[in-house]
Amino acid sequence: MMQPSSTKDVPEVSAVPRHIAIIMDGNGRWATRRFLPRVAGHAKGVERVRDVVEACVERGVEFLTLFAFSSENWRRPAEEVSVLMRLFMTALEREITKMHVNSIRLKVVGDLSRFDPKLQQMIANAERRTANNTRLTLNICANYGGRWDVMQAVGKMVAAHPGATDFSEEQLAPHLAMAYAPEPDLFIRTGGEQRISNFMLWQLAYTEMYFTETYWPDFTGASLAEAILSYQQRERRFGRTSAQLVESKKAS
Ligand code: IPE
Ligand code: IPE
Ligand code: MG
Repeated sequence: MMQPSSTKDVPEVSAVPRHIAIIMDGNGRWATRRFLPRVAGHAKGVERVRDVVEACVERGVEFLTLFAFSSENWRRPAEEVSVLMRLFMTALEREITKMHVNSIRLKVVGDLSRFDPKLQQMIANAERRTANNTRLTLNICANYGGRWDVMQAVGKMVAAHPGATDFSEEQLAPHLAMAYAPEPDLFIRTGGEQRISNFMLWQLAYTEMYFTETYWPDFTGASLAEAILSYQQRERRFGRTSAQLVESKKAS
């Protein structure tokens, strides 16, 4: 299904964000503060994913996108990268049945070709198994980068229109890796940094941004509720004036 574009139409806005995108940051600092190895923070972080997924299901959020491993995270020490991969595999193995029972559709988004073939196989199986679930779509971004996403979409768009030299936003959007999801309503970054770190560059055009100092391993369902509350207090104008918004609400 083609999703509306925030720069081309004014999307419908509901009280509960349809799509939440999260940069789960601060695992390493959480651990260091406790004199633990960084990987202990990653292990704790995996537990938090479960809470936040549950909270989203309960609130009727339709899409949850989690940044798990960026295309730049390969720059980390090899041991940390390999622990992250192992954690990803074990979490997938452990959680997939529960996800399926709860009608969660899993998608792993990014350039997966760089992963161990065994992991690629596990991902393909998990996606296939949960493909028809309808309660929540959980996108896990792994070896994902916003620029990678735009460039792979450009490649596909050009191939789909041989000889064309002029393109529109509407022609590009369907080729983005998460074209099946609406653009995120709410972006959350934990861990105190206020940057995008090459996350969903195209799709964040009109997303509400929420930054919290809380480290990801401390981010609970209640923390998510706070973020949603902040979201609900905002006025999403999409380029219009506040007075126009009041008018359009009266009219509907
Ligand atoms: C986020 O936590 C997890 C990944 C990037 C995989 P970090 O590992 O970036 O934690 P900090 O930012 O060093 O505290
Ligand atoms: C962003 O966090 C990526 C993930 C959470 C997966 P980083 O911790 O890698 O971001 P930077 O490097 O501090 O910007
Ligand atoms: Mg970090």
